[in-house]
Amino acid sequence: MLSTNIQQMIKAQIVRELNNHDIYFTIASFFENNGLSGFAKFLTKQSQGEIDHATKFKNYLSDHQVEFTFAQTPVILENYNIPLDAFTIIYQLEQKTTQEIQIISQAAMQGGDYTTFTFLDWFRVEQVEEEKTIFDILDKIKNIGSDYGALLFLDQHLEN
Ligand SMILES: [Fe+2]
Ligand SMILES: [Fe+2]
Repeated sequence: MLSTNIQQMIKAQIVRELNNHDIYFTIASFFENNGLSGFAKFLTKQSQGEIDHATKFKNYLSDHQVEFTFAQTPVILENYNIPLDAFTIIYQLEQKTTQEIQIISQAAMQGGDYTTFTFLDWFRVEQVEEEKTIFDILDKIKNIGSDYGALLFLDQHLEN
């Protein structure tokens, strides 16, 4: 039996994971239309990962006979005109997600809900990977600066 608090936190996390999906998916479409198909492919794949995260949480609720009623996701689109902006936003989003997973983990631990705490192990490890992947690309983009040839090279690298 999941506490009402944990149920609500997990439901809110599902909405945030879906929101992350929407943001990545939208930015992917921007890159697609601006000749950076490698970035687009990478972010489309990343957006599918967010659906996987939401599904894991949704299944966990189902395992505890808790229903998730689909809520409209609050997409917040900011300025992502250039890869540097886009990946800065994405990196911040992943850092925020890590914090959110930590907060739910703390609540589970404090409430003596070790099942949920253990369930969240996967997400804590996943977030290390997510942050690292995005940080590495952001770092490359920063080093590239205004060198369009180098940007295209990175785009090609992300395509594969
Ligand atoms: Fe996620
Ligand atoms: Fe993510």
